[in-house]
Amino acid sequence: MVSKSDFKGKHFISMGDYSRAQLDYILDVADEMVELEKQGSEMARGKVLASLFFEPSTRTRLSFESAMFRLGGSVTTVADPMTSSAKKGESFEDTIRTVMNYVDIIAMRHPDNDAALRAAKVSSVPYINGGSGTWEHPTQTMLDLHCIRYAKGGIDGLTIGMVGDLKNGRTVHSLLKALRNYNVKVYCIAPDALKMKPEVIEEVKDKVEVVEVSDLPKTMPMLDVVYMTRVQRERFASQEEYDKVKDSYIMDRNMIQKHGKKDVVIMHPLPRVNEISTDVDDLPNAWYFRQVKHGIYARMAVIALALGVY
Ligand code: NCD
Repeated sequence: MVSKSDFKGKHFISMGDYSRAQLDYILDVADEMVELEKQGSEMARGKVLASLFFEPSTRTRLSFESAMFRLGGSVTTVADPMTSSAKKGESFEDTIRTVMNYVDIIAMRHPDNDAALRAAKVSSVPYINGGSGTWEHPTQTMLDLHCIRYAKGGIDGLTIGMVGDLKNGRTVHSLLKALRNYNVKVYCIAPDALKMKPEVIEEVKDKVEVVEVSDLPKTMPMLDVVYMTRVQRERFASQEEYDKVKDSYIMDRNMIQKHGKKDVVIMHPLPRVNEISTDVDDLPNAWYFRQVKHGIYARMAVIALALGVY
């Protein structure tokens, strides 16, 4: 039986840590947040969130902060690493050991793959992984699942395609780990150089059917949900390497109308560069901007549960 105590005081690090029942529990709490977001809440009154972002972010940081405000709590933030003591040579662990004295919960993004796991070892307050290198981005997955449930009425039975930079994109690593709990089929659609990380496939392969392909138009007719991703330029060693793959897949109106199911749901964690053409934006299939809103509900749920105030 899942209960609040599964989450109270706990870190939120990896989608590999959660069972189906626990994910559904968080999503149900996120459903309740839809109303609370409108009405406002005093649930987290007196509590403080630190949002520490050592990599660029618009949506994730602002939605963590907005979620905390909507719960009635307060926020202190570092959005620019140049202004923090990390710049003076302070270790990552020492930054966490310091910040945990000021706040009740930490949401953080960091360029190192092991940042979230290292932080969890030293933090005495719940640490929420807001993106850890190319490893994982679990709260993005909670909002993705919440959005899929809303758009499709459920997750079981769907065929889901992940498209683009499946090697460096942390959102799809977390999403695939979460989907191992559902009765879905997943197509990983990527060029050879950007294939899904083998260790992620290894982790899920006994529980979910994963098919690796490279042809988007051929796969498109099978898909109920298409999760587009940005080619992660910042993870490439050279501009030349990036240029070789940057336009591997472009979702446009023609692709949807010629090859897609009529009600195919097009998602993207954003920011997009040019992998979704703007001529898709006014199709009913375009969910990526509506998807953003689910970030508030999902993060309100994760914060409230971790703080134990829900
Ligand atoms: C993603 C990220 O930072 O991993 N953005 C986000 O949080 N919505 C995806 C990306 O940057 O491509």
